[in-house]
Amino acid sequence: MEEKKYLVSKIREGTVIDHIPAGKVAIVLKLLNLGQNTKLITATNVDSGKYGKKDFVKVEGKNLNIKEINLVSLIAPSSTINIIEDWEVKEKIKVKLPEVVKNILVCPNSNCIVNSERETIDTKFNVINSDILDRISFQCNYCDTIINYKELSNYLKI
Ligand code: CTP
Ligand code: ZN
Repeated sequence: MEEKKYLVSKIREGTVIDHIPAGKVAIVLKLLNLGQNTKLITATNVDSGKYGKKDFVKVEGKNLNIKEINLVSLIAPSSTINIIEDWEVKEKIKVKLPEVVKNILVCPNSNCIVNSERETIDTKFNVINSDILDRISFQCNYCDTIINYKELSNYLKI
């Protein structure tokens, strides 16, 4: 078991986003938009005791801010963010799905007030949480249109 765990090298400083749902690391990275020169180690469909398969990403030399942590939580609500300093895990942050998602998603309903050209209203979606990932959904505060977790990547503002 040990040798499996260390297939990918450890990092000296930075952030490890661990326990990302299998196959979701690309969309997490798209959301974070870390920039061309960021040093990343990513892994997808890695065996994980607790959750079957998982993805993870190691971001060298950068700590995520609160806004970035909130973005990660949308796609990977069961993930853990590990802050690494001098080769050690300095802090372990369990991400939490927020109750409300402001100005990150677009409303799929073209008639919704947030899509009106004359108004400049931030989008606001209420999160309908579930322990089952695929049952998480996001409901527009203005028109009640629902975005399912599976289609989330189609409605990201970024
Ligand atoms: N890690 C790393 N570089 C370090 C220290 C840790 O890349 N210098 C990575 C580990 O490989 C692991 C994650 O950070 O993917 C968390 O490390 P650790 O807490 O030691 O692992 P676990 O106890 O397995 O974590 P958890 O209980 O959250 O699964
Ligand atoms: Zn709407």
